[in-house]
Amino acid sequence: MSTLRSIPAARPTSGAPGASPRSANGPLGVFDSGLGGLTVVRALRAALPHEDIVYLGDTARVPYGTKGPATVTRYAMTCANHLVARGVKAIVIACNTVSAVAPERLRVELDLPVIGVIDPGARAAAEATRTFKVGVLATAGTIASGAYPRALSACSTRIETYGQAAPLLVPLAEEGWTRGEVPRLAARRYLEPLARAGVDVVVLGCTHYPLLLDVIESEAKALLGNHVRMIDSARAVAREVAAFLENRSLLRDAARGEGSVKLLVTDLPKSFDATASRFLGSNPEGAEQVDL
Ligand code: DGL
Repeated sequence: MSTLRSIPAARPTSGAPGASPRSANGPLGVFDSGLGGLTVVRALRAALPHEDIVYLGDTARVPYGTKGPATVTRYAMTCANHLVARGVKAIVIACNTVSAVAPERLRVELDLPVIGVIDPGARAAAEATRTFKVGVLATAGTIASGAYPRALSACSTRIETYGQAAPLLVPLAEEGWTRGEVPRLAARRYLEPLARAGVDVVVLGCTHYPLLLDVIESEAKALLGNHVRMIDSARAVAREVAAFLENRSLLRDAARGEGSVKLLVTDLPKSFDATASRFLGSNPEGAEQVDL
C-alpha cells in the first residue's frame, strides 16, 4: 500500500498579515542567480500565456549554490525587492538554492505571495518513483540544506532520498557548453553514486540543469537503465502558479492579449541574450542591465 499523501500546494502566502491587494494585471516577478530560471519562464509562458513576466537574473553574483545561506538570503532579498519596486503581483523563486534557504524570510519580509520550486519538484518525483529511491542532483547549498529529503518525506514516508551536489554543471550551463565530452563526463561522475544507490528517478534540483537535460538523461539511462525518469520542476511549478493565481483571482485579463517578457540582468547582458532567445523559443527584447 502506498504511503503517498498530498502536501499543501507550494505554501504561497500573502506575506505580512493585511497584505495590500495587488493588481491582477500587474506582472509576475521571477528571479534566479543567472539564466537557469529561464527554464521556469518557458514553462510559465506555456501555462499562462496572458501573463506579463519580469525576469531578473543576478548574473553579477552567480553562482549562489556555492555560497552560504546568509549570503544567498541577502542576495535573494535584493532581487525580490527590485521586483517589488517594479510592481509585481507575486514572486516565483526560479532557483532551487534560494527556495531551499530563503523562502520563509522572503515571505515574512515581502508584502506579496512568494512561490518556490522545491515542493512542486518533490511532489512530481514522489508521483514518479516506483522503487521509492529518489536521486537529487543540485547545488552544494541545496544539498546541504536538506530541503529535498524534507519535501520528499512529506510526500511519502517510504522515500529514501540520495542527494548529489553537481556544482560544475552550473558554469557549463552558463557557458552554453551543453553538449559533448566535457558535460557528458561531468554528468556521469555526478550520476555514479546515484546509480550505486539504485534510484529510479533523478530530480534536476537546480534550474540550470534542464539546459543539460539531453546529456544528463542519456548518461542516467546508460548507468541506470531506460526506465529512469528525469524530473524538471519547471512544469510542476508553472501548474501550481497557475492554480494559485486563479484561486486568488489574480490572473491577468486575457482580453489584453499575449503577455510580455521583460528580462533584467545584473552584469553584461550579451551572452545572456543569446541563451535567452534560444531557450525561450522566441526573440525576447534584449535584456536590460540593472544595479541592485
Ligand atoms: N539556478 C540555481 C539553482 O536552481 C543554481 C545556480 C547557482 O548556483 O547559482 O539552484
